[in-house]
Formats: sequence, C-alpha cells, structure tokens
Amino acid sequence: MISRTILLYLSRQFWLKDLLSAIPGFSRIPRRFIAGENIHDAIGAIKELNRLGLMATFDHLGESTTSREEALADVEEYLQVLKLINESGVESNISIKLTQLGLDIDEEFCYQNVRRLVDQAGRFGNFVRIDMEDSSRTEATLRVFGRVFAEARQVGIVLQSYLHRSAQDVEEVIRQGARIRLCKGAYHEPEEVAFQEKEEVDQNYLRLMKIMLRSGIYHAFATHDERMINATRVYAEKIGASRDSFEFQMLYGIRRDLQQQLVREGYRVRVYVPYGRFWYPYFMRRLAERPANVWFVLSNLLRQ
Ligand code: FDA
Repeated sequence: MISRTILLYLSRQFWLKDLLSAIPGFSRIPRRFIAGENIHDAIGAIKELNRLGLMATFDHLGESTTSREEALADVEEYLQVLKLINESGVESNISIKLTQLGLDIDEEFCYQNVRRLVDQAGRFGNFVRIDMEDSSRTEATLRVFGRVFAEARQVGIVLQSYLHRSAQDVEEVIRQGARIRLCKGAYHEPEEVAFQEKEEVDQNYLRLMKIMLRSGIYHAFATHDERMINATRVYAEKIGASRDSFEFQMLYGIRRDLQQQLVREGYRVRVYVPYGRFWYPYFMRRLAERPANVWFVLSNLLRQ
C-alpha cells in the first residue's frame, strides 16, 4: 500500500501535478475535496452547507508564495471574500496560510498583509483563522499571530497535537486570551519535533483538548476522528461546558454524515471550504491522511 510518507513527499513534487492534470477526466477528481476554482463556486458550496446547518471557513488555496505581487493578489482575493461574505450573508469566516501572504519573503511584509485582513474582518464583525504549516514555520507564524492579536483581536491560530511543543503553545495562546483550532497536523515532521505514532498524537490531542475546554475560551476542535470527537463531547459535558461554547471543524467532503449528525445533536460544526486553482498540495495531503483515498482516485479514473 502506498504510504503516507510517499504521498506527503509527492505533495511537494509539482511535476506530478502536471502529469495528473494531463490525464483526460482527472480534473473533476479533486472536486471531491475542493469546492471549485473561483469565489462564486465557494459561495455556492457554502450556501448549501449553511442550508444544512453547517458554518464554513473559506480557504483560497495557495502556499509558499515567492513574490510580493502574488502575496498581494492573495490579500486582494481575501479582502474580496470578506466583502462577499458580508454582502451575501453566508455564515463563514476565512482561513489563511502565512506563506501564502509572504512569510517566506519578509515577516514584516507578511504581518502587514495579515493586519489588513484582520482589520477588514473587524469592520465586518468577522474572524480570521491562521492555519499552521510545517514546523519550520511554527515560530514565525506564532510571532506574526501574537503581534496581530495584541492589536486587533479578530484572529485565531491553529496548533497541531503532533508537535512536542504544542502543550506549551496551547498554554501561551490561552494566556493571551486567544482562540485555538486544534488539529493533529498534516505535514511530514521528524521525530525531534513531532510524535511519530498515531497513538501518541491522539493522546496529546486529548490532553490539549481538555486544557482548551477548561479555559472557557471559544475554541475549535478540527478532526474527523470519532474517538477524539466523542472524548471532547464527554469531557465538555463533565465540566459543564455547553454545546455552543466550542465548535467542531471538518474538511469539505470528508465525513459529511458525521458533520450532519453533530449538527442534529446541537453542536456547532464548521466546514473548511478550499477553492482555487492551486489545489495540488492540499489534495495530496488529503490522500496522505487516508491512503485508501488513492483507490477512490484510481477507481474514478478507471470508471471513465
Ligand atoms: P485521523 O487522520 O486519525 O483520521 C480519523 C478518521 O477520519 C479516519 O479514519 C477517516 O475515517 C477520517 N479521515 C481523516 N482524513 C481523511 C481524508 N483525507 N479522507 C477521508 N477520510 C478521512 N493541519 C495542519 O497541519 N494545519 C492546519 O492548519 C490544519 N487545518 C485544518 C482545519 C480543519 C478544519 C481540519 C478538519 C483539519 C485541518 N488540518 C490542518 C488537518 C489535520 O491536521 C489532519 O491532517 C486531518 O484532519 C486528518 O486528521 P484527523 O484528525 O481527521 O484524524
């Protein structure tokens, strides 16, 4: 069976994207996980999610931007998204990646870009979530987040339970009074910085979840893992945290049954809705999380 490590390696090999894109009929396959190519496709998908009682967060696909022009174009795109959310009345916020907004070019430039988005979100009473990327960016991401949060508040961060350092980071972010989205982590990380065994990652997730729930801040638990979700529900109940004092989050197209079930039970559920043309690394990370998805891709190609 093709392994997680190989798929994560391939997610950085852009020649494979060109090869896959050249296969007739391939282009519709990423649509299982991606709402479409443009902002209007994403708004359409979010309206449908809202109709089902689900909230959303926009992700304009893109990462590791190398030019200021590209980063500024992404800022404009997100400013437009915030405006459209406001005009259309959809229940959604936005998720951003700092390398998309110039983190690898110049931290100060990136900070200015994030600040513009958070200010715009503030004007509309909305919210910006900063995704967490691989561990080489953790420190800088937290620095930019901390600076913006101290000045503008309408912003939250993502922390990953596979990192050894996250216990400390969770405490620090809670001390600042900010909102966390807890996920397991999607990148290939060495053992010096990250737990390698699923059981350890899961145990850490549960430990951090408890600290977060006890903080009384409105946090988010991003996972499709029923063990994590059930433990969160049980612990929230135990400490008397109400069902609307936190939210679950899942990815577009994954465990739609579970998303609906949680809504029916009175939980708040937000779906991460990616759109755009830069789908390749995101798509490959979704395959890596569940290598059985490779069979989904292959069987779709064979069925044509
Ligand atoms: P796990 O991988 O253990 O999977 C549990 C079960 O969920 C599987 O058995 C399967 O049933 C289902 N499942 C999981 N992934 C699937 C897939 N791709 N296809 C089909 N079924 C699947 N990561 C990161 O590093 N930085 C970030 O900023 C974010 N942001 C983020 C936002 C949101 C809303 C979510 C849900 C996730 C992220 N992630 C992320 C990704 C996260 O770190 C992690 O890689 C995935 O959520 C998969 O881990 P699970 O917690 O679902 O558990």
